[in-house]
Amino acid sequence: MNKAVRFYETGGPEVMRLEDVEVGDPGPGEVRIRHVAVGLNFADTYFRSGLYPAPLPAGLGVEASGVIEAVGEGVASVEVGDRVAYTGSPLGAYSTARVMPAGSLVKLPDSIAFETAAGMMMRGLTSSYLMRRIWPLKAGDTILLHAAAGGVGLIVSQWAKLLGLTVIGTVSSEAKAELARAHGCDHIVFYGREDVGERVRALTGGVGVDVVLDSVGKDTFAGSLRAVRRRGLVVNFGTASGSVPPFDLLQLAMHGSAYVTRPALADYIADPAERAELAGELFGHVAEGRIRIEINQHYALADVQRAHRDLEGRRTTGSSIFVL
Ligand SMILES: NC(=O)c1ccc[n+]([C@@H]2O[C@H](COP(=O)([O-])OP(=O)(O)OC[C@H]3O[C@@H](n4cnc5c(N)ncnc54)[C@H](OP(=O)(O)O)[C@@H]3O)[C@@H](O)[C@H]2O)c1
Repeated sequence: MNKAVRFYETGGPEVMRLEDVEVGDPGPGEVRIRHVAVGLNFADTYFRSGLYPAPLPAGLGVEASGVIEAVGEGVASVEVGDRVAYTGSPLGAYSTARVMPAGSLVKLPDSIAFETAAGMMMRGLTSSYLMRRIWPLKAGDTILLHAAAGGVGLIVSQWAKLLGLTVIGTVSSEAKAELARAHGCDHIVFYGREDVGERVRALTGGVGVDVVLDSVGKDTFAGSLRAVRRRGLVVNFGTASGSVPPFDLLQLAMHGSAYVTRPALADYIADPAERAELAGELFGHVAEGRIRIEINQHYALADVQRAHRDLEGRRTTGSSIFVL
């Protein structure tokens, strides 16, 4: 019997249930995929808690890898037996098998293992657009990267070094600091006990950083504004500590005419050609060993509640996946 995680009301990890499900045949434009590994992303907790809306009851999960088991009418991009991976809607990746649109799939090169793919489709493509699309980053630039030992954090740190950037990373513990340094962070700030704006000014000769990559949100955004250089960019791409409260745009003028954006991966991979380009660059770096995907937590689907508690409790580093 196939299994899938579903939730009938929003709330804490306890609302998720692993259920037996029927997985039917694919319709036109669809495939049936048998999952091998499934990604656990912070975004999954936003859907579960209700921060991101989903019509209930709902499945969960936006990233997985596996093998094509059946193809529906009109599908020419993949064949039965192909190794594939995906990230994006519709929800439902937390499952042993599913039917889904063929258009979301990327074929996996043999050099990329299923587990690696499940650990990097969302975090890696996010890193890809953050490094290659959002700002014309160039060698010699400095970035401030919050949650530097997290899934996105470890990938961005390594990618930033490939581009010749200086990376100031924030973390919550000594162990995470060590990991972040090993992946390319030049400087570490402990954001729980240090003033981020002040430390960053001191590290940059009073100038501030070119770009802040802030996935923590509520607790860090004010410090991010204080850390950015004149006419630099603050990217709020996640809300691990909660949403950034509303603020007066005049604040941007008072922080050196800073730019602010709140991007979503979906808008950077909506165009299939751009998605292929971003994925190609990521896969190249991973296949040739320039970027390592650190999968530091492996779970069974039955352990889904513990997995969410670990992620939200800041007990994880790097990427987390479910192995089937
Ligand atoms: N917009 C997009 O396109 C996009 C796409 C993918 C991911 N994201 C975002 O990127 C971020 C990273 O995702 P990820 O899956 O790789 O997660 P992650 O970074 O591995 O985990 C989140 C980390 O945030 C830090 N954190 C700070 N305050 C926290 C708090 N109050 N509660 C929980 N964690 C807190 C923790 O690191 P410390 O212990 O070191 O503080 C924690 O390990 C998430 O915010 C996610 O939503 C955005």
